[in-house]
Amino acid sequence: MARKRIIAGNWKMNKTPEEAKALCADLKDLVVNDNVDVVYCVPAIDITTVAEAVKGTNVHVGAQNFYIEDKGAFTGEISAPMLKEAGVEYIIIGHSERRDIFGENDVLINAKVKKAFASGLKPILCCGESLALRKAGTYKEWIERQIKWDLTDVTADQVKNLVIAYEPIWAIGTGETASADQAQEVCKLIRDLIAKLYDADTAEAVRIQYGGSMNAGNAAELLAKDDIDGGLIGGASLKTDFAQIVNA
Ligand code: PGA
Repeated sequence: MARKRIIAGNWKMNKTPEEAKALCADLKDLVVNDNVDVVYCVPAIDITTVAEAVKGTNVHVGAQNFYIEDKGAFTGEISAPMLKEAGVEYIIIGHSERRDIFGENDVLINAKVKKAFASGLKPILCCGESLALRKAGTYKEWIERQIKWDLTDVTADQVKNLVIAYEPIWAIGTGETASADQAQEVCKLIRDLIAKLYDADTAEAVRIQYGGSMNAGNAAELLAKDDIDGGLIGGASLKTDFAQIVNA
């Protein structure tokens, strides 16, 4: 079974609604590609504007964060039903910036993955090691531990619809990309782990992205690897370069 490529832009905390509208317009004709799922994961305030701007195109809307309750006294948070109603399909969970800056741990991340599925949102679950772990040579154990925690009590049918993004922290926003071989090594490790935790069909179905300074120049080489089914793109998703990655 061939996996459909998925190229997602992670806009992070960039673009006001007006700027978001302009970027969608700039990209509109450039990201048309039926062989690729294209996703814009945008700030919450931009969701309605972007959902309107991409209507009738092949672009899906994603969000970058949510909380696990549907409503209530959770000041500053946004819920899955709110995102759904606004047109969101994909949700980034466990990004290293959420883990490191906002203190999200694997228990919360696991709860978010389960809540996303229960709410009909498709998680893009991020994992990845620090430079220290890469240098120490213990990055494989680290990634396996993250995935096991984050997928606790997640079913095989759910994992078949999951996207996992391998994002080495040392490659995020640094201009330093993992080599295609380094990225493939970990993406394959993740697929093998899914086979072990679930079964071969599930491992074959789950889509695995690479993220970390992916750009118009290096995307084709990374995406050519057997176990890399797409990319999660930060900086380069904010310009028309993103279209070159979609079409790489
Ligand atoms: P980057 O970010 O492409 O700017 O390195 C990727 C990410 O953090 O998702």
